[in-house]
Amino acid sequence: MSEESKRWNERLYIRDLADKVGQTHTLEGWVQFTRKSGKIRFLGLRDGSGTIQCVMVREEMESQQFDLFSQLKQETSIRLTGVVQPSDRSQFGVEILTQEIEILGTSNQYPITPKEHGVDFLLGNRHLWLRSKKQIAISQVRSIIIQAIRDFLFEFHFVQMDSPVLTRSVGEDPEGLFAIDYFDLGTVYLAQTGQLYLEASISAHGRVFCFGPTFRAEKSKTRRHLTEFWMLEAEMAFFDNDDNMDLEEDLIKFVIKRVLDRSEWYLKQLDRDVDKLRQCLDPFMRLSYSEAVEILQKKGSSVQWGEDLGAADETLLTEDSRVPAFVYDYPQAVKAFYMKRNDADPRTVKCADLIAPEGFGEIIGGSQREDSLELLAQRIKDENLPPENYEWYLDVRRYGTVVHSGFGLGLERLVGWICGIPHIREAIPFPRLMERVTP
Ligand code: 4AD
Ligand code: MG
Repeated sequence: MSEESKRWNERLYIRDLADKVGQTHTLEGWVQFTRKSGKIRFLGLRDGSGTIQCVMVREEMESQQFDLFSQLKQETSIRLTGVVQPSDRSQFGVEILTQEIEILGTSNQYPITPKEHGVDFLLGNRHLWLRSKKQIAISQVRSIIIQAIRDFLFEFHFVQMDSPVLTRSVGEDPEGLFAIDYFDLGTVYLAQTGQLYLEASISAHGRVFCFGPTFRAEKSKTRRHLTEFWMLEAEMAFFDNDDNMDLEEDLIKFVIKRVLDRSEWYLKQLDRDVDKLRQCLDPFMRLSYSEAVEILQKKGSSVQWGEDLGAADETLLTEDSRVPAFVYDYPQAVKAFYMKRNDADPRTVKCADLIAPEGFGEIIGGSQREDSLELLAQRIKDENLPPENYEWYLDVRRYGTVVHSGFGLGLERLVGWICGIPHIREAIPFPRLMERVTP
């Protein structure tokens, strides 16, 4: 590394202070809180890497400097110099005895105070709400989860194949499309999935994934639905539906282990019961759709064979389970056109949804794909999808078709479950909901 390129990385952050007791250092950041106790003043300084308590004692500072305390409001940006001291209650085991303060940017009447605010107000101020303790914890866990997913996939030789956002080939549900007027070419849609493009890519790379925003114009105002959400999609040549479930289970366990390893502090901020997560390192439950319907009926659900399982059914089904549950082989009629017909029972398809425990619902949808050209072409016809938009997709079956499977993992559903937050709107930095597209 050249001297010049190293300089940006010499900046010292709060996270670096744990082994610097007795040394004097300068930090830059935002005032998270201030507090007085007798003659002593406290402030919480946040710099992105963490938060640290800074103590101000009149005898230890110039009085002009000490008096600056009265100008420190929530979110004032400051530069602060002081001596690192041990402290057992803090994130990194240290606090700062302040010597000097410089105000960089004032902040008056910051809208989000420690008192309770309504969720509409908070969502309207999402750009500021993101600075709050719990929101910081969620964003940090989300980022750790994203890295874990990528680490897992790269470790197992997956190739990232980015799929287009603008598309003509409906992947999931023709009712839930955002349409866009595209120059002289007519209507195109925001992608609901990158799956069809991944299927085309497996013949080049074997195992592939894409990870990006996907769009659903569903009129659902539930705590599990966003109109724009991030999905990890993976697709593997020569994998059947069982291999697919095995891989999903290993991926989820890898993510949970990583989170338990690296997110302890943030999960504590969220009051998450980590034992519930640790239990999910045990083998996942696997049951067929038909078994699931039987269990649900015994539990009092009115679901009939052939109907899709709703959120309430998913919660009921997993209420006694400490681990996630795969439900496999759903009726063809309630699933997407590309799923492989189950020869053992042609009313059903070779697919599996992964349902998280504690009522967090479906986090993964996956399936083996129809690899027969004839059957797939027939399914496209049966669903009244415009055949000209699927010719390229059928080529995957025309030129060297193979058994293959894949899945889509809803990132916000996973983050919501792992963080234990009731509504997934807090699991994405700037949520897009039916009734909200700002900020
Ligand atoms: O079950 P879905 O619709 O499956 C697919 O899109 C497949 N093409 C994926 C594949 O096999 N490559 O969506 C996959 C996951 C769901 O299990 C759920 O976690 C999440 O995406 N999801 C949503 N998350 C938030 N808001 C929504 N509106 C969502 N719709 C699906
Ligand atoms: Mg699904």
